[in-house]
Amino acid sequence: MAETETPITLRRLLVSDVPAAMALEHELFGDEAWTEGMLRDELSAPTRHYVVAAEDGQVVGYGGLCVYDEEAFIQTIAVTAARQRRGIGRSLLLELIAESERRGARSLLLEVRADNVAAQALYAAHGFAPVGLRKGYYQPSGADAVVMMREGEGA
Ligand SMILES: CC(C)(COP(=O)(O)OP(=O)(O)OC[C@H]1O[C@@H](n2cnc3c(N)ncnc32)[C@H](O)[C@@H]1OP(=O)(O)O)[C@@H](O)C(=O)NCCC(=O)NCCS
Repeated sequence: MAETETPITLRRLLVSDVPAAMALEHELFGDEAWTEGMLRDELSAPTRHYVVAAEDGQVVGYGGLCVYDEEAFIQTIAVTAARQRRGIGRSLLLELIAESERRGARSLLLEVRADNVAAQALYAAHGFAPVGLRKGYYQPSGADAVVMMREGEGA
């Protein structure tokens, strides 16, 4: 029988999703994962907008945005390894771009590891271009971060 794809739902990340989001953090970012306290602080800030991608009620990805007036930042995007390359990262990114535009941001920035080819390809496909390099930004690895920016409509 042909495998059928279960629909993916995007919704706000709730405090009750924190354990699932932390499991993704540890799976995908290892010793550079956020702590639970950092994620809870993010969720409580009105400048933030966090969403999850859910499949059959299970959290398979999440992403977060921070908006300060005209400038917005993609805080994180993560999709569990078993569900990557199915368009979930793109859906999360498009939702964060849309929210930044709803809140009036004119530019959207992010940092991404210099060796993260997959994420850079995703961002480049949606209008982000490299604008800087932060040497040794990620700890404890000391990996460099590429800063990428996307100008909004009318910027
Ligand atoms: C980066 C990440 C979020 C992408 O999520 P995803 O659901 O696999 O991505 P999508 O299926 O939506 O891919 C959208 C586009 O991104 C690019 N892309 C995604 N994964 C890629 C890969 N491994 N290699 C090259 N391009 C890739 C492609 O352009 C892709 O479009 P295509 O499939 O039509 O070619 C995911 O790989 C991930 O969670 N990685 C670990 C955590 C991480 O690095 N987060 C980013 C921190 S800045």
